[in-house]
Amino acid sequence: MLSPSFLSWLSRPLLLLLLLSPWPIWAQAPAEVPPTGTPGSRDCPEACACAPGGQANCSGRALPTVPEGLSLRVRALLLDHNRVRALPPGAFVGAGALLRLDLRENGLRRVHARAFWGLGALRQLDLSANQLEALAPGTFAPLRALCNLSLAGNRLARLEPAALGALPLLRALSLQDNELSALAPGLLAGLPALNALRLRGNPWACGCALRPLCAWLRGHPRPAPEAETLFCLSPGRLAPSPLTAFPDAAFSHCLQPLSARDLAVIYALGPVSFLASLAVCLALGSVLTACRARRQRAAARCPRRPQNLGPGWASPAHSGAVGVPPPPPGSAY
Ligand SMILES: *[C@@H]1O[C@H](CO)[C@@H](O)[C@H](O)[C@H]1NC(C)=O
Ligand SMILES: *[C@@H]1O[C@H](CO)[C@@H](O)[C@H](O)[C@H]1NC(C)=O
Repeated sequence: MLSPSFLSWLSRPLLLLLLLSPWPIWAQAPAEVPPTGTPGSRDCPEACACAPGGQANCSGRALPTVPEGLSLRVRALLLDHNRVRALPPGAFVGAGALLRLDLRENGLRRVHARAFWGLGALRQLDLSANQLEALAPGTFAPLRALCNLSLAGNRLARLEPAALGALPLLRALSLQDNELSALAPGLLAGLPALNALRLRGNPWACGCALRPLCAWLRGHPRPAPEAETLFCLSPGRLAPSPLTAFPDAAFSHCLQPLSARDLAVIYALGPVSFLASLAVCLALGSVLTACRARRQRAAARCPRRPQNLGPGWASPAHSGAVGVPPPPPGSAY
């Protein structure tokens, strides 16, 4: 039996652990927000300089991690030119009112899928000039208010639609200067408000995988200012081709993705053809049986050539009663 005092003794270090944890997701209870306050007070991370508008300037301070002490009064967090190599889960918890986050030039390599939890108000996120090679699915999912995202100057060779997710308000996306050769088909579909897409400086490969991007560029001819200067490289050719030179007809040889109707037909065809062949077999079987029974009845009525019946035809009357005669000799069952 555990006594209450034992429990409280047990929970004390646990509580301490929770409070000291660098990523206190559970400690997200919104602190009281004083309407006014002096800049550089306890609401400002120690390593940074805070301005009255809610700007925490932590630029260029060789910080290895996101500074602690973020509060709801921080509206813009300038963390550019530091040494934040990885963002752990809940890295910005406590800064739920953040509108702008600048993480340029940190040598950032890893962003945990839950790093941006709690940043539902964020509108501008700059992750440019880092070392990102991949982004986990759901990384940007909490950023429902995001308008402007820069991933320029990283090492992204692939960008899955699940990493961006659905960002209903995203207007500007920069993927410039990465290692992308194609955009995944669903990627642009989740970004209905997008009108500025920066794509230069990627090794786009001319081919079917480029179809969604070319279609998007045709649908947004003006807002993508550098569309004319985008090129893709064909495997066999040396000269790059401009992306805008591909009409949709150029992709006519590409396999169309199956529509919902096609899929429905395919799924229905399986069971239907199975049932149909079953019915055909049953019908054929009963016709055969009926024919045989008829022949037997005819043979029973005029038993003129009994020598033709093999040993299996023991008693015509008996087999007629059963309905299914035994096989004649030599028939392969
Ligand atoms: C942030 O602080 C640095 C000096 O630490 C300064 O050079 C820079 O201009 C500041 N940035 C802004 C936006 O105030
Ligand atoms: C997005 O942010 C970048 C700087 O971070 C700025 O240069 C650009 O104009 C912004 N775009 C939009 C559409 O707000």
